[in-house]
Amino acid sequence: MTEEPAEATLSNLLKEERTFPPSAEFAEQANVHADAYEKAQNDRISFWEEAANRLDWSEPWHTALEWNAPFAKWFVGGKLNVAYNCVDRHVEAGNGDRVAIHWEGEPGDTRTITYSDLQKEVSKAANALHELGVRTGDRVMIYLPMIPEAAVAMLACARLGAAHSVVFGGFSADSLRNRIDDAQAKVVITADGGYRRGKPSALKPAADEAIAGTGVEKVLVVRRTGEDVPWTEGRDVWWHDVVDRQADTHEHTTFDAENPLFILYTSGTTAKPKGILHTSGGYLTQASYTHHAVFDLKPETDIYWCAADIGWVTGHSYIVYGPLSNGVTQVMYEGTPDTPHQGRFWEIIQKYKVTILYTAPTTIRTFMKWGADIPAKFDLSSLRLLGSVGEPINPEAWIWYRHHIGGDNAPIVDTWWQTETGAIMVSPLPGVTSTKPGSAQKALPGISADVVDESGKSVPDGGGGYLVLTEPWPSMLRGIWGDDERFKDTYWSRYSEQGYYFAGDGAKKDDDGDLWLLGRVDDVMNVSGHRISTTEVESALVSHPSVAEAAVVGATDPTTGQGIVAFVILRGEAKEGTDTAAELRQHVAREIGPIAKPRQILVVPELPKTRSGKIMRRLLRDVAENRSLGDVTTLADPTVMNLISAGLTGGK
Ligand code: WT7
Repeated sequence: MTEEPAEATLSNLLKEERTFPPSAEFAEQANVHADAYEKAQNDRISFWEEAANRLDWSEPWHTALEWNAPFAKWFVGGKLNVAYNCVDRHVEAGNGDRVAIHWEGEPGDTRTITYSDLQKEVSKAANALHELGVRTGDRVMIYLPMIPEAAVAMLACARLGAAHSVVFGGFSADSLRNRIDDAQAKVVITADGGYRRGKPSALKPAADEAIAGTGVEKVLVVRRTGEDVPWTEGRDVWWHDVVDRQADTHEHTTFDAENPLFILYTSGTTAKPKGILHTSGGYLTQASYTHHAVFDLKPETDIYWCAADIGWVTGHSYIVYGPLSNGVTQVMYEGTPDTPHQGRFWEIIQKYKVTILYTAPTTIRTFMKWGADIPAKFDLSSLRLLGSVGEPINPEAWIWYRHHIGGDNAPIVDTWWQTETGAIMVSPLPGVTSTKPGSAQKALPGISADVVDESGKSVPDGGGGYLVLTEPWPSMLRGIWGDDERFKDTYWSRYSEQGYYFAGDGAKKDDDGDLWLLGRVDDVMNVSGHRISTTEVESALVSHPSVAEAAVVGATDPTTGQGIVAFVILRGEAKEGTDTAAELRQHVAREIGPIAKPRQILVVPELPKTRSGKIMRRLLRDVAENRSLGDVTTLADPTVMNLISAGLTGGK
């Protein structure tokens, strides 16, 4: 079922008419010019083959694309090693002394890691994983804070041809366990803990809880906080014991272009997260090309900072694989933007002279709330390009970002993509596009996107509908781990006749044909750029003994984009009271993770359902956003909404 995107987003976005062309200086020095569109248009496949030649292959491919819809194979017959491409080849090219990572710990400790250092660290980690039994084709779970070992661990897996599955450190033990079981992981890499808002925050106890009773054989533990941790002899080993004593060289082999690189779990419309599978050659080609084209990356001079967490796809493609394959110098930051003060981001930019910043609208809106006087205290003149990702950026936040952070000069690239797409798909090109606040604008060269109506017909300029991808692309997901049926059903069944990929986003074309993303059209919420399924939160709520039924909606939120609002019916015997809501919020945090905690929990006597029993979330969203109710005639009992509204106003 799909629903209309929120009206508020629509009207807010479509009033915007300003445009900002790149400066002549920027346009002239840009990596990619307007001819790239034309070139790709003329021959999409050879365009991507040329992009693939950015990488080092031990054997060339014989077929660029094998497309048995919806299953794609790119660069068939080609062999490469992803870690070699991200690390060793830069050292061999004489750039071993270039800094790969300026790491900044939340408490203020720092580490500087050159490409030579990284080569040694990744080699040692690969040797250690091999000693722990990891082989090509195995799965390794990574559950770490934002420390360099996270990137090293990912690259070590890639080096061995084992797939990693990174689980965001903010997810609960239960979430980790489900992912371990689904991926049948052999080894888990975790840490004693990390720093969060000025305090050490333990990770190992959650990892232990998750691992108990699974098939995990070994747990490799990084010491970060130094706090005491529970220990299982024979299973748990310290990183500094096992990795540090390994040889710092590792003979790599190369793997098929379609060898699995990683599985990353993301929320869908059911309670069970989907294991999105990405492979090697096509993924790295598009991560590398888009990083070069969209961020105009100059490896010799830029200092790049993507302020995402490695637990999300943004961290995979634009902290690890894209940037490192391009040999950049980047900043990696462990903590939150307000620790120890609200100027921490700007202090980091000033300190390292960051030239490119990539962050999320929710973060920008938080900075707006804190006030423009905070960034004004720092020297941000090094910044020459700004990026946005994760959710639609409202024009007001875009303009603020441009003015207060970009000095009215740095181009902004609003990049639309998904865990499933693996890399950026729709975005301005910074040296080419006249940008429009709030619009992601155009499919990148080599990418075919469209907006279609219910029947799959392309809408004219000025029209709205659903975003689809009409041709396969190199970094596309290769499937859902272990579930081909769900893969076909989720993305390919809706427009099966046309063979389009259904992204799950509403979109509009303006009169110039530029794209405006309008948010999800399925039961997926976007909270602070994190994708959370309404069904997943509902099933966490009903697993609490006091809850009889629950319905969850994403309501527009000025800072987080959407906030989670839960409507619950309590069991007869459960006591109604203020504590129930607090208790249920805690319960959801325990079940899924703190990011899924509802902003509001409303106790109601009934839920609005259709005659077939489906909850009408649209009506609940009307209530949560204080709007007058939409059409209630399809409800099994139209009076239910009166009961809900009366209960809410009367009960406060
Ligand atoms: C969903 C994908 C892409 C990496 C981070 C999120 C929304 C993402 C934009 C954007 C409007 C955006 C979409 C998409 N989204 N970027 N620039 N403008 N919406 O990855 O967790 O897989 O979520 O995020 O709704 O479907 P994800």
